[in-house]
Amino acid sequence: MKLRRLGLTAVTMLLALHLGPSLAGEQKNYSLTASYKEECGSCHVPYPPQLLPADSWRSLMGGLDKHFGSNATLEASVAKEITQFLVVNAGRSGQSQAVGAKAPTLRITETAWFKREHRDGHDGLSASVWQSAAVKTPANCAACHREAGEGNYSERGIRIPRSK
Ligand code: HEC
Ligand code: HEC
Repeated sequence: MKLRRLGLTAVTMLLALHLGPSLAGEQKNYSLTASYKEECGSCHVPYPPQLLPADSWRSLMGGLDKHFGSNATLEASVAKEITQFLVVNAGRSGQSQAVGAKAPTLRITETAWFKREHRDGHDGLSASVWQSAAVKTPANCAACHREAGEGNYSERGIRIPRSK
C-alpha cells in the first residue's frame, strides 16, 4: 500500500526539518546582504539572522529608536527591507528563545543556545576571558570570531583573547 511510502516520506521530511539550516548554531557561515552589513554592522558586527527567532527580530526592528540605549532609527523603506531579510532568515522560536522568558528576547547572548555554546570551560572560555578588556561584552562577537563581520563563525576564525 501507499501508506508505507507515505510514512517514509514523513520521516524524511521530519529529518530534513530537524537537520535544517535554521537550527541555531548549526551553520558556521551566514550570508548577509550588503545593506544589512552597512546598516546593522556599523556599531557592532552584523549579527546572523538565524540566531534569533522572527518574533525577536520584529520586536527589535519595531524599537530602533530605543535600541539598547542607542538610536538606530532607519529610513522606513530601509527598515522594511532589513526586517524582511531578518524574518525570512530567522531561526525557529523555541530553539533560540531565552530560558523561561515570555517575551521574545532581543539578545542572541541571552539565548539558551548561546549560553550552552559559550559556557565557561568550553574551548578556553572562562569568566576572566569574558571580563577582559578585549572582550568587555559577550555581544562583541568579533573579539573572538575574527571574521564575524562577514558572518563567518568557523572554528578556524576563532582566537580567544588573553584574559587580563
Ligand atoms: C548606533 C549604533 C547601533 C546601530 C546602528 C545598531 N545597533 Fe544593535 N546594538 C547597539 C548597542 C550599543 C547594543 C548593545 C551591545 C552590548 O550589549 O554590548 C546593540 C545590541 C544589539 C543586539 C543584541 C546583541 C546581543 O547581546 O546578543 C542585536 C541583536 C542588535 N543590536 C541588532 C541590530 C540590528 C538588526 C541593527 C540594524 C537595524 C542594529 N543592531 C544597529 C548599537 C547599535
Ligand atoms: C570570548 C570569545 C567569544 C565571543 C565574544 C563569542 N564567541 Fe562564539 N564561540 C567562541 C568559542 C570558543 C566557541 C566554540 C567553538 C567550538 O565549539 O568549536 C564559539 C562558538 C560559536 C558558534 C558555533 C560555531 C561552531 O563551531 O559550530 C557560533 C555560531 C558563535 N560562536 C557565534 C557567536 C556570536 C554570534 C557571538 C556574539 C553575539 C559570539 N559567538 C561571541 C568564542 C566566542
